[in-house]
Amino acid sequence: MKLVTSRLKPILQTGLSLAVILLMISCGNNKGETNETPVDIPATQEMVAELTSPPNVPRGVGKRKAKKLIVKMEILEKEGEMTDGVRYVYWTFGGSVPGSFIRTRVGDEVEFHLQNHPDNKLPHNIDLHAVTGPGGGAESSFVAPGHEKVFSFKTLNPGLYVYHCATAPVGMHIANGMYGLILVEPAGGLPPVDKEYYIMQGDFYTKGKNGERGLQPFDMQKAVDENADYVVFNGKVGSLTGDNAITAKVGETVRLFVGNGGPGLVSSFHVIGEIFDKVHVEGGDVINENVQTTLIPAGGAAIVEFKVDVPGTFILVDHSIFRAFNKGALGMLKVEGEEDKKIYSGEIRDDIYLPEGPGIQEMPTTNEIVESEIPAKSFDEQMEFGKNIYMQTCFACHQAEGQGIPNAFPPLAKSDYLNADVNRAIGVVVNGLTGEITVNGEKYNSVMTRQMLSSEEIANVLTYVYNSWGNSGKVVTKEMVDKVKQNR
Ligand code: CU
Repeated sequence: MKLVTSRLKPILQTGLSLAVILLMISCGNNKGETNETPVDIPATQEMVAELTSPPNVPRGVGKRKAKKLIVKMEILEKEGEMTDGVRYVYWTFGGSVPGSFIRTRVGDEVEFHLQNHPDNKLPHNIDLHAVTGPGGGAESSFVAPGHEKVFSFKTLNPGLYVYHCATAPVGMHIANGMYGLILVEPAGGLPPVDKEYYIMQGDFYTKGKNGERGLQPFDMQKAVDENADYVVFNGKVGSLTGDNAITAKVGETVRLFVGNGGPGLVSSFHVIGEIFDKVHVEGGDVINENVQTTLIPAGGAAIVEFKVDVPGTFILVDHSIFRAFNKGALGMLKVEGEEDKKIYSGEIRDDIYLPEGPGIQEMPTTNEIVESEIPAKSFDEQMEFGKNIYMQTCFACHQAEGQGIPNAFPPLAKSDYLNADVNRAIGVVVNGLTGEITVNGEKYNSVMTRQMLSSEEIANVLTYVYNSWGNSGKVVTKEMVDKVKQNR
């Protein structure tokens, strides 16, 4: 710019002005092609907005015309529970974290009343991302305790928007829970669905580490470092689990309005066992389909829709998975209704899979076969060879001392089932076993796979088992095994 001489400046300025005018004309032409620009939509009638706390959302706008929409939002600083035994002073829009859900349509003229409760200690304000104007309303809404500020704006752009407090220190106000969602529906409203819910992720920073009991103050240094102690949905651990779970019935379509208040972390929002049929990416007009995980930026949102086809509990997570299982970002959607085996079979079988066990036994090497053909020449050799096979094949389930695993694999030690019938025991090793059996008074219903062992090996391993751990001392021969095999 220093090279521009004073004589050139006016020419350049004129050129620039012309460009601006041309740009304005072309913009005007584009807008003229649509019937009604949002700013020209009349909002004559007045109505008071229905506000809801999470996970609920207000009724949809449907076919209603644009209106002057009165929003009355009260800021409350109040103590709540982060998780069992851990209390926290939340700063809230409307008494909940996230704050009250605001539902508008394009062309609404929103008259926003921001009230700061007299018992509060701090001034606050609100920056709504749905606002076209300085600070998203923040500059007009800065309000001291015991005061109310009023400002208005017209909703020009449909979408799902975050609102938050923007009073310094901004990060601290947001970290304490000062965020929520405002939906601007298109003219005619979003298509109807069966269930709608409001979910917002947030990260929290406490002086004490995760789970440390008592009233926990905000930790500014951890917040600056983005080292969250809690990452949660709807302001606390367990806000959407157990009795608080959101619900739906098989066949219903669920729409989730998902926001991320931050202040620090982005969310990889995922529902375990579901695929999002539609995602309004970043809360805007672009609809992506068949999405597993959608990224929700801090200070951003997404509208997620899916039909639930089968019953069960579907887990909502931030797929940055330690946050879900260790810091709280886990919710539940409980779906009731008829199963559909075509879509999901449920458990068909419980087979044993032991990479170091029978699976390997099914493909013996040539060496093993040759070795296994060498018959044991004495009882001691039978015991020795038998123990080797036991440790390779049986040990993982029945354990070193034949004690088995409670509720899973029956004991071989002092086993009444084993000692009662040697041919049955041989048959189990030869053929495998499924179905319920009772061993020493305990019921077992696991699966034993067929063991790919030679008759000699089976004789040896069973002899080892019968002569260990207080069992009957029976000796099993290759001939006995062959006889069972023939009768199979
Ligand atoms: Cu604030």
